[in-house]
Amino acid sequence: MTKLTMKVLVIGAHGKTGLRVVRRLREGGHDPLAMIRTPEQRKVFDELGVSTVLGDLEYPIDHAVRGCDAVIFAAGSGSKTGKDKTVLVDHLGAIRSMVAAAMNGAKRYVMLSSFRSGTNSDSPIKHYNRAKGRADEFLRTMHEVMEDALDWTIVCPGGLTEDEATEQVSVSLVTGVEPEGSSKTSRENLAAVLVASLDQPATVGKTFTLFEGDTPIREALRSLG
Ligand SMILES: NC(=O)c1ccc[n+]([C@@H]2O[C@H](COP(=O)([O-])OP(=O)(O)OC[C@H]3O[C@@H](n4cnc5c(N)ncnc54)[C@H](OP(=O)(O)O)[C@@H]3O)[C@@H](O)[C@H]2O)c1
Repeated sequence: MTKLTMKVLVIGAHGKTGLRVVRRLREGGHDPLAMIRTPEQRKVFDELGVSTVLGDLEYPIDHAVRGCDAVIFAAGSGSKTGKDKTVLVDHLGAIRSMVAAAMNGAKRYVMLSSFRSGTNSDSPIKHYNRAKGRADEFLRTMHEVMEDALDWTIVCPGGLTEDEATEQVSVSLVTGVEPEGSSKTSRENLAAVLVASLDQPATVGKTFTLFEGDTPIREALRSLG
């Protein structure tokens, strides 16, 4: 398959996964644009030679996505904020970014979601999993309400770790309402999968779980087709 160079907005670029995504985009010949929340966060990207844009999911981000071919969403309100932020960032902020992407010409959207996310999730952190599930559901169905739909992919990892990249994973299409599983996923492998999904047609229109495994990433993603 022809390798395309894309300008990719990374939302949550200063996060533990987002920064890895930015690095891998650079290594893969793409042109990342790191969305950050404060000017102090620029330093690490300046050192990488990566452009930044200030943006906050609680406010319009059209300026950030304009001119981008694709969006990778790696943001999250985190476990230290209240449930209000779960709604404002993980649910409504995510949807805001999808609409902004579609309205501003970005055709491709890759969402970092989570196992156990679903609109009726009964997990121990169901407020979070339901918020993610609602945002994911909007992404899957937005073509029904908007003319400018997106080629979407939803990646549902397990508990995130700081383990080194193995470049080998296990993926499984989500067929029920809630992605099942309880395994771990390294942020390194996750970042690799988020980036590799961009130009892997077999991942378009798919929701899949991602755990550590023994299948090389490209082969695993191709198997989703
Ligand atoms: N932890 C897990 O085990 C687990 C499992 C499955 C899925 N996930 C999902 O994976 C995501 C990424 O994990 P991580 O460990 O990489 O998270 P992280 O290090 O906490 O990074 C989250 C990023 O989101 C950004 N952010 C927060 N609120 C924002 C807002 N209003 N506008 C724009 N950006 C905002 C943060 O910005 P600042 O840097 O400015 O704070 C940060 O850069 C999580 O948020 C979660 O949804 C996590």
